[in-house]
Amino acid sequence: MNDRKNAPIGVFDSGVGGLTVAREIMRNLPGERIVYFGDTARVPYGTKSKETVLRYSRQIVRFLKTQNVKTIVVACNTASALALETIQQETDIPMIGVVKPGAKVAAETTRNNKIGLIGTSATVKSDLYRTIIQEINPDIQVIGQACPLFVPLVEEGWWKDPVTVEVAKRYLDPLLEQGIDTLILGCTHYPLLRSLLRGIAGDQVTLVNPAYETARALGRLLREQDLEAEGKKEEEFPYRFYVSDEEAHFQRFANSILPYDVKMTKQINIEEY
Ligand code: DGL
Repeated sequence: MNDRKNAPIGVFDSGVGGLTVAREIMRNLPGERIVYFGDTARVPYGTKSKETVLRYSRQIVRFLKTQNVKTIVVACNTASALALETIQQETDIPMIGVVKPGAKVAAETTRNNKIGLIGTSATVKSDLYRTIIQEINPDIQVIGQACPLFVPLVEEGWWKDPVTVEVAKRYLDPLLEQGIDTLILGCTHYPLLRSLLRGIAGDQVTLVNPAYETARALGRLLREQDLEAEGKKEEEFPYRFYVSDEEAHFQRFANSILPYDVKMTKQINIEEY
């Protein structure tokens, strides 16, 4: 057996949100092992500066390297928008983020060339989704809307609550009034609001989930680099989880969304890396 092929995939996020990406990887690439890091002590990234998100991301890459990962998935829109380009240049491990796969599919999906983007303030401000989409088709208009209240609402478990519906309407109405036909869920937490957002946006708007598109792009990357896992995962913990704050909250959240019973979660001091 080839050790490198059977090495885990490193997946990281500012906290629990990236579990929506890990979930898609588990579903789409069931033979792969995963080491997940959630920066629960320093979340949110979406309100922080580029320098700070870059410093955090560098530390996490150093930690994941100690876990001998074969690839790294930046499972956070904010870190993908602000840090991926730099950290990619600094390491020889193949890396992908969530922005590019989501942007590409959105550009292929729109028929009227009007795409709505919802995400954290930092992701919307970075303009990376717009840049990638307009590289594909300069005629596409990308209308961004930061939705800072969504992350705490999702973490509170209010995925279908009337309060969340009200907040979502306020955020989405301006985009719908401008006639978007495609909406990018540009933050890792938002796939958990999918059915609520679908109810507000209606059937005429296609929702693009970058978490799903990233898992597919990861599959292609592993094939191209000849890094697909071989044989069966027989070890007790094919999925390992590390966090920078206490484990309990993370583990509860993870168990509510993953198709896997999360038993192994460990707290580490990320500032040491
Ligand atoms: N994971 C972040 C993202 O996808 C959302 C939470 C945060 O602000 O850190 O942008």
